[in-house]
Amino acid sequence: MRGRMEFSQNHLLGIEPLKPAEITTVLDLAEEYVALNRSSEKHATVLEGMTQINMFFESSTRTQASFELAGKRLGADVMNMSMAHSSLKKGETLIDTALTLNAMHPDLLVVRHGSSGAVNLLAEKVNCAVLNAGDGKHEHPTQALLDALTIRRKKGRLHRLVVAICGDIAHSRVARSNLILLGKMENRIRLIAPPTLMPKGVEEFGVEVFDDMRAGLEGADVVMMLRLQRERMDGGFVPSEREYFHRYGLDAEKLAHAKEDAIVMHPGPMNRGVEIDSAIADDINRSVIQEQVEMGVAVRMAAMDLLARNLRRARERARLREAANG
Ligand code: NCD
Repeated sequence: MRGRMEFSQNHLLGIEPLKPAEITTVLDLAEEYVALNRSSEKHATVLEGMTQINMFFESSTRTQASFELAGKRLGADVMNMSMAHSSLKKGETLIDTALTLNAMHPDLLVVRHGSSGAVNLLAEKVNCAVLNAGDGKHEHPTQALLDALTIRRKKGRLHRLVVAICGDIAHSRVARSNLILLGKMENRIRLIAPPTLMPKGVEEFGVEVFDDMRAGLEGADVVMMLRLQRERMDGGFVPSEREYFHRYGLDAEKLAHAKEDAIVMHPGPMNRGVEIDSAIADDINRSVIQEQVEMGVAVRMAAMDLLARNLRRARERARLREAANG
């Protein structure tokens, strides 16, 4: 990779601990993997000899497939643990499961869990690199990084953009990681949601808050739609899906308030006709939803590559220390 590379993390638990230069490092390296993934020889060897274990305690289609493909393309031995059938069902704790797996000497552990903070806790108990694939309502760092790469490629920059994040913000780790990342890179962020789906005190992040779609979308460069996460709601957050679509669903009329060249994003899975109209989701001139999926594999390859380099260095230092102590 050209230029100066800065990345001093041992884990990727969130966007919060990353410096802007580290974010840029991941994105620059990911660009190289975009090119590799588009070639017919999609194989690198940077994770050769390494074992990657994917532990998904919550269901996932694209994120798990993306991490699996990323690891395989980098030459790792990849194992998917289906946590739905694991010993957790027999009452084993998350930490016990982690310690058991740790004894099998994985090098990279990719974890998705329903509780905010669970992945951080786990990272303290194992001696390999841990990547957060989404923890509760907390963070989903690789999603924010793949969104950033998509935006940078489409808009030619990742600063001074007006980014509108719309929908179920209260339950969204995607929104949280994105607003931290986009804030660090000095963009103007607008959050648009009905008051029941807007987290309290969010103004502290230096964002503008709207409950009217048309006002919030005015002049936006990027429109990021979020799924209505019914599984995380415990009551009447929204009246009906029809009413929600009417007020907050992205259709051509509402999108016309954003800039003429605004791009439309969605992390998936989409509820068509609830938060987004199919005609917009499938409009190749506006929607970058498929690009987001493509960038996901490249960003995960970059993140695992960088963590593996740091892991190798740390192990080498430990080995030298041990040798010096006789
Ligand atoms: C998101 C997630 O799991 O947080 N999806 C994803 O990673 N592709 C968003 C969602 O579930 O709505």
